[in-house]
Amino acid sequence: MKIIMLGAPGAGKGTQAKMLAAKYEIPHISTGDIFRANIKNGTELGAKAKEYMDKGLLVPDELVVDLIMDRFKADDCKKGYILDGFPRTIPQAEALDKALTAVGESIDYAINVEVPDENIVNRMSGRRACVGCGATYHIKYSPTKVEGKCDTCGADLIIRDDDKPETVLNRLNIYHEQTQPLIDYYSAKGVMKEVDGTVDMNDVFDAIVAILGE
Ligand code: AP5
Ligand code: MG
Repeated sequence: MKIIMLGAPGAGKGTQAKMLAAKYEIPHISTGDIFRANIKNGTELGAKAKEYMDKGLLVPDELVVDLIMDRFKADDCKKGYILDGFPRTIPQAEALDKALTAVGESIDYAINVEVPDENIVNRMSGRRACVGCGATYHIKYSPTKVEGKCDTCGADLIIRDDDKPETVLNRLNIYHEQTQPLIDYYSAKGVMKEVDGTVDMNDVFDAIVAILGE
């Protein structure tokens, strides 16, 4: 099964993708997580990506496409995958289509997690990320057992550099300009499904599972 998670920054793509990956036993591939891991490890790719990410801008298509094509070669992608944060532009979607068509495959579902802009800034200011394993929490909606420490690995929690309100607004603008057109793109292919992302995260999950099947 090949799934694309669509939605504004902070809509809950990562939260849902992690739960879906565990249920369907396919990898969760987040381009944002891959870039953040590269920044943490001080790689050349990380340094390039950080310039754009800190401003709330998109990393250039060619960097992202090369990275994803490389990731698809791994053995764990044979049964499918959940793409979170890719594609994010029409050229990225076209590059993905071209690569899949070349091997006789296609995307099964694109799931749009719908959350209005007014909810987003509030959500992002409460998000906390683990420096160790990358788990995501929210101070109000998904708090840790011990404040400031990850439930899974015990490492410290941080606020993402791009979660400052002014950067979030930039990210939202870029989302509307460059990523939202993908909703029409995947609707035209007949694979687009929408879920309400404003309800409890477990209810969002149930709605997605109802679409994908048990
Ligand atoms: P990326 O990491 O993909 O960020 P994003 O799309 O902006 O999305 P987020 O990760 O911020 O949000 P999310 O939808 O995953 O929400 P989450 O589950 O965490 O990309 C970062 C940057 O990398 C981009 O800006 C760009 O520069 C670059 N980049 C990445 N991919 C790229 C690409 N393909 N091309 C070019 N550049 C690229 O949830 C948010 C918060 O809400 C959490 O605290 C969570 O606990 C909480 N929450 C989740 N669900 C609910 C709920 N139902 N109710 C209440 N709270 C909830
Ligand atoms: Mg995410």
